[in-house]
Amino acid sequence: MNRYELTKDLETGNAIIDKEHRELFNAVNKLFEACSNGSGRSSMNETIQFLNDYVQKHFSHEEQLQQQSEYPSVRTHKAFHEEYKRKLNEITSKISTSGSTIVELGNLNRHISVLIAHIRTEDKKLAGYLNQ
Ligand SMILES: [Fe+2]
Repeated sequence: MNRYELTKDLETGNAIIDKEHRELFNAVNKLFEACSNGSGRSSMNETIQFLNDYVQKHFSHEEQLQQQSEYPSVRTHKAFHEEYKRKLNEITSKISTSGSTIVELGNLNRHISVLIAHIRTEDKKLAGYLNQ
C-alpha cells in the first residue's frame, strides 16, 4: 500500500508549514489504511472527518500567514484552497457513503497528487516569501 511522506524535496523551509504538511500526510495515510483494513463505518467516518478538519485548519493557517505578511498571491492561493477543500469533501463523502471503491480511491490518490504539486510550487513560493 502506498504511503505518503514529506520527502526532503517537499520541504518548504517553513517549520510550521512543514510540520502541518507532515501531519496532513499522516491523516491521509490513516484514511488509506482504514480503507484497506475494511474498518467499520464509524471509524472510517472519524478518519474522514479528521482529514477534512485538518486540511481546513492547515489552509486557514497558511492564509493567516499570507494576510499578515501581505503576500501578493493571497487571492489565487486562497481560491485554490477553497476548490481543493470542496473536492476533498466530495471525494471523501462518496467514500463514506458508497465505501472505498477502486474508483474513489483513485480519485483520492489523484487529489493528493494535486496537493503535492501545490506544495512543491505554491507553498514553497510562500515559504520563500515568508523567510525573506
Ligand atoms: Fe497552500
